[in-house]
Amino acid sequence: MAFAMKYFVRTYGCQMNVADSNEMARHLRARGFSATADPDDASIFLVNTCTVRQHAEDRAFSEIGRLRRWKAARPDRKVVVTGCAAERTRVFLERRFPHIDLVAGARSIESFGEAVDRLLSNRPTDESLDYAAGSPDGRVADFVTIMRGCNYSCAYCIVPYVRGRESYRPMGEILDEVRERVDEGVRDVTLLGQTVNSYHRDGRAGRNTDFADLLEAVGEVDGVERVRFISPHPFYMTDRVIEAMAAVPAVCEGLHLPVQSGSDAVLGAMRRNYTREGYLDLVGKLRRAMPGIVLSTDVIAGFPGETEDDFRHTLSLLEAVGFDWCFVFKYSPRQGTPAAERPAWPEALVEERHRVCLDLAEGIGRERRRRLVGTIQDVLVEGDGAGRTRGNYKVQIDGRAAAGSTVPVRVSNADRVTLEGERVDIAVGASSDPPSSCVTLARSPSP
Ligand code: 5AD
Ligand code: SF4
Repeated sequence: MAFAMKYFVRTYGCQMNVADSNEMARHLRARGFSATADPDDASIFLVNTCTVRQHAEDRAFSEIGRLRRWKAARPDRKVVVTGCAAERTRVFLERRFPHIDLVAGARSIESFGEAVDRLLSNRPTDESLDYAAGSPDGRVADFVTIMRGCNYSCAYCIVPYVRGRESYRPMGEILDEVRERVDEGVRDVTLLGQTVNSYHRDGRAGRNTDFADLLEAVGEVDGVERVRFISPHPFYMTDRVIEAMAAVPAVCEGLHLPVQSGSDAVLGAMRRNYTREGYLDLVGKLRRAMPGIVLSTDVIAGFPGETEDDFRHTLSLLEAVGFDWCFVFKYSPRQGTPAAERPAWPEALVEERHRVCLDLAEGIGRERRRRLVGTIQDVLVEGDGAGRTRGNYKVQIDGRAAAGSTVPVRVSNADRVTLEGERVDIAVGASSDPPSSCVTLARSPSP
């Protein structure tokens, strides 16, 4: 049977993993493979795993288990397992799932191309084709990795163990990649790193290059309409970074700033290196610099030692800030981390706190979204009649809009997390797209 040169990628976990999947897919395309949405058509099945919580790891492992039959149907198929769980549990994976052909941990993304070459017994490659080939799916928004690893050691977190110490890409290399993405049609660039705003490089003269410099430089790249970044650490959210966010027009008024807890005792035990007050100060600075900024966060419910009182402090912090959305995670002990040594709360209590926190966060989010009803938002269209506001709300647009264009949309419904709205630059129900000159950033009134 002919070897179908197709790959299928399943990604678990965070945006870092999504970016890594994209990078690995580029390596596969450089070797003549193309993407498929149907695993039955694929000859390579790549599972990019996550280990940040046990649940994420379990889901990936069940999928890997099911791939035994996928592989048995055509033994020339390859099962490739990558990412953080692969880094952490390589030996277990190889023993437990002998049908895996290649395990490549999160630390070996850079050498993924060579590992694939060995796997495919030196199939001819053309890495340069990789970058000339362009984004196959016409992505409008994409990630660019600027740093890897994490020098923090938050007591609950496995990331530093699986991804290692921080390393930063040179600014020139980052800007080259941004230009490549723009050439492929990307307009909305998310700079990516585990503690993305700790970015710095030695400068040639005088001061180092820091994250604020990078924001300015990326914002100046021709064709970049929007710049975002994820995930920042509050400790590195300096005045310089906030000033650059406000000053660089392309940098969006939206920030996901993980807080984890609203109690100083828990923040201390987590080794987060900031206090509740420090976090609230930051929020104040961000709102003064960018009124209307959309704020979101991560919270962990049921951290070991978290008392009822600590938990109430987290709830009150969510109310005090008024986050537009909030990811609430049940604390999950990760073997090898300091928090895993401490007695865990009973599961029922963790679940209860998770539910209470989630309910509160959802109520606050709904309130925040309601304020948007009636406002006109610039929506960068990503496809399927949907796009994103500068604050990163997803919007379903009533009325046609070409992917890659930015259109003014009046928000009509904010009941759900995905907003709904109508274009205000064309009559709704018009049978054709407006002339391209109408596709503009200007907030023109309805004709
Ligand atoms: N348990 C629960 N949540 C965790 N996170 C990281 N490690 C754990 C853990 N052991 C959450 C944090 C982080 C997000 C990506 O995942 O909130 O910001
Ligand atoms: Fe994990 Fe903390 Fe590093 Fe984030 S900053 S990756 S939570 S150790």
